[in-house]
Amino acid sequence: MSKPKVYVTREIPERGLKIIKERFDAEVWPEYAPPPKEVIIEKARDVDALASLLSDKIDAEVFDVAPKLKIVAQMAVGFDNIDVKEATKRGIYVTNTPGVLTETTADFAWALLMAAARRVVEADKYVRTGQWKVGWHPSMLAGRDIYGATMGIVGAGRIGSAVAKRAKGFDMRVLFYDVVPRPELERELDAKPVDLETLLRGSDFVSVHVPLMKQTYHLINEERLKLMKKTAYLINNSRGPVVDEKALYKALTEGWIAGAALDVFEQEPTPVDNPLLTLDNVVVAPHISSASYETRSKMAEMVAENLVAFFEGRTPPNLVNPEVTQVRPLTKLF
Ligand code: GLV
Repeated sequence: MSKPKVYVTREIPERGLKIIKERFDAEVWPEYAPPPKEVIIEKARDVDALASLLSDKIDAEVFDVAPKLKIVAQMAVGFDNIDVKEATKRGIYVTNTPGVLTETTADFAWALLMAAARRVVEADKYVRTGQWKVGWHPSMLAGRDIYGATMGIVGAGRIGSAVAKRAKGFDMRVLFYDVVPRPELERELDAKPVDLETLLRGSDFVSVHVPLMKQTYHLINEERLKLMKKTAYLINNSRGPVVDEKALYKALTEGWIAGAALDVFEQEPTPVDNPLLTLDNVVVAPHISSASYETRSKMAEMVAENLVAFFEGRTPPNLVNPEVTQVRPLTKLF
């Protein structure tokens, strides 16, 4: 049997790529920037599998030209770039890489939070640009206390819970909002489940950890930003469109909230003329929350494991559309 063909849309870490190259007839898009949609469409015509990243739009347009495509293995926990409904209809399996990036992503939410509250980026600039002319001043670059403050977690799944756990080390009170009950958070962290409005009104730090779906698009909008404390900070390292950036700009310039820290944007890369980038009370990063060497390697390995399992006729460990097995039952294809 000839090896199944896989198109890998970027040079993923060696730990996964090595397995893919050994087990499959693999082609890898060699550039740093993502392949244009036309390239994905062209390559999809003749492959059994795609290994995708969150910047690749994988939708009906791709599926329509890909009669042999059986699985899309994404290297990310989020998969809002993939039309899973269309995939399922066509018997195409979709997998992601949950779990391994939880702690790394939670660490980065905290890096953002601390940078915003204690003005780390502003302070760095201050020193480097020669503004530090007075050795010490009582109000120089004063920020907000984290220790003992109230943390509000919007979306208390794996990552949200890991962020909450860290908050306990800072003796914070933790509020959380989720559409599903999280009794373990109440039990283990003494975290309090509240509605979104109560969370926004009562938190000093609001950290967003929901997936992007129809229901979460612009979840943090003008009306909700207005509920937040004037001294509060918004942290988002989930997906950009969960926050209405125009409303956030208003909130930051009109003093509805104190600051924000963003690793994700409505458009990525965000244009350099995004008005948010002109504000000192905003800390930004280019969607790197899971970017540790260890975690990215593990994510790549999971992509390979999902692909290998599928072609061996086993349920891929991280299948996001289990109902697909009704459309295309698993069979050994290696
Ligand atoms: C990164 O944003 C991911 O979804 O893994």
